[in-house]
Amino acid sequence: MLAVITGASSGIGRELALRLAERKYDLVLIARRTERLLEISKLLRNVNIKVEILSLDLTNLDECKILLNTFKNRNIDLFVNNAGFGLYGASLDNDTAKEFQMLDLNIKTVHYLTKEISKIMSRGTIINISSMAAFLPTPLLASYAASKSYVYNYSMALAYEFKQNKVPINIMTVCPGPVKTEFNEVANANPKMKGLSVEKCVESILKGLDKNKILVIPSFKMKFLRFMLRFGPTKLLLKVSYKIQSKK
Ligand SMILES: NC(=O)c1ccc[n+]([C@@H]2O[C@H](COP(=O)([O-])OP(=O)(O)OC[C@H]3O[C@@H](n4cnc5c(N)ncnc54)[C@H](OP(=O)(O)O)[C@@H]3O)[C@@H](O)[C@H]2O)c1
Repeated sequence: MLAVITGASSGIGRELALRLAERKYDLVLIARRTERLLEISKLLRNVNIKVEILSLDLTNLDECKILLNTFKNRNIDLFVNNAGFGLYGASLDNDTAKEFQMLDLNIKTVHYLTKEISKIMSRGTIINISSMAAFLPTPLLASYAASKSYVYNYSMALAYEFKQNKVPINIMTVCPGPVKTEFNEVANANPKMKGLSVEKCVESILKGLDKNKILVIPSFKMKFLRFMLRFGPTKLLLKVSYKIQSKK
């Protein structure tokens, strides 16, 4: 079995790689930081699986094409669109070029790879990592939250289309709340909310994979929060969300 993971050099992607290796998946690990990918491949050298690394910047469409060309005529069982990052700050202060880079990676790349990999895969699962932010307009993380709403809505709709059209690929959307990874450092955020461990987050993802779920929300707390969000008036939700985000 072959699993391909984007953003495998740290956090959720790295942990997922280690856990899938235990399940004897061969792995293709993708990210920009080659040395980090090499470190994971070294860690796995005594496990009887194949590990390939691809150092690619997936904000770049040509590099996404390199990824796709690598898999022509190969069977992929699991593809994980995990690479992504956030950008914390008042929207008017955020650098537009950096925002566009984030939107390229979080939206365009996920869209493009989901679609093109679906054409290559004959069966299996595509996991798209969205966020709890998908369910809530989030001041001070405005464009990031909006990008994750795209991932959620696109992936859920595609999962339904595939089932209707009998495409034998399950699209599984994952919406984690805060998870202890390098995410906050990269986003320049420092939320007061305690994050879930990356191990627990990945455990939920793997349970979802085993059950062929279309939506996974790691942790009971976040599932409950998602339920409550349905009833909160938007004005109040925005106020609470702003308060949480501004506690830096
Ligand atoms: N942590 C959280 O609180 C949280 C909550 C909800 C959702 N998420 C989502 O979970 C996913 C994984 O994030 P994480 O928390 O594990 O954060 P992380 O530790 O910062 O990992 C992000 C991964 O994405 C890769 N990446 C970033 N830019 C890239 C690019 N241009 N091309 C290729 N790879 C790139 C990074 O590798 P390189 O830097 O080596 O390229 C890294 O491997 C993201 O989509 C994030 O939005 C995270």
